[in-house]
Amino acid sequence: MLNIMIINGPNLNMLGKREPTIYGSQSFEEYLDILKEKYPDLNLSYFQSNVEGELINVIQETGFICDGIVLNAGAYTHTSLAIADAIRSINCPVVEVHISNVHKREEVRHHSFLSPACRGVILGFGMDSYRLALEALIQINQQRQDNEC
Ligand code: DQA
Repeated sequence: MLNIMIINGPNLNMLGKREPTIYGSQSFEEYLDILKEKYPDLNLSYFQSNVEGELINVIQETGFICDGIVLNAGAYTHTSLAIADAIRSINCPVVEVHISNVHKREEVRHHSFLSPACRGVILGFGMDSYRLALEALIQINQQRQDNEC
């Protein structure tokens, strides 16, 4: 069973209420229940914080013991060298995720400090971006296992 950590950054606790034309009307907790049903063979953990240092602590704490991290760092994506450094400090694959297509939005959202530190990026597919990130992590871990055999 793969252990996958989903980490959401600032304001993502407001999903469902926050700018629904951009982020939809579903809370993350509702969506997480659907993901858990869809992927009974994954051990999915979830953490959300509005505090940059707490996100870094969880990346450091889980980055050596889980099989992958799905990270939506919210606006810290565009500002946080510290989170990029945390991602570079750990050894599990990290997939950066965004609900919206940030490249269609304001220019300030086009740059990500995190992308160069991540294994890959999935964005613009609404909440389904998280599921696509899980698929990527399943694939990466399968390839790792095949290479070990
Ligand atoms: C976001 C995009 C960010 O620019 C924004 O600050 C967020 C959400 C997304 O999922 O589309 O909080 O990461």
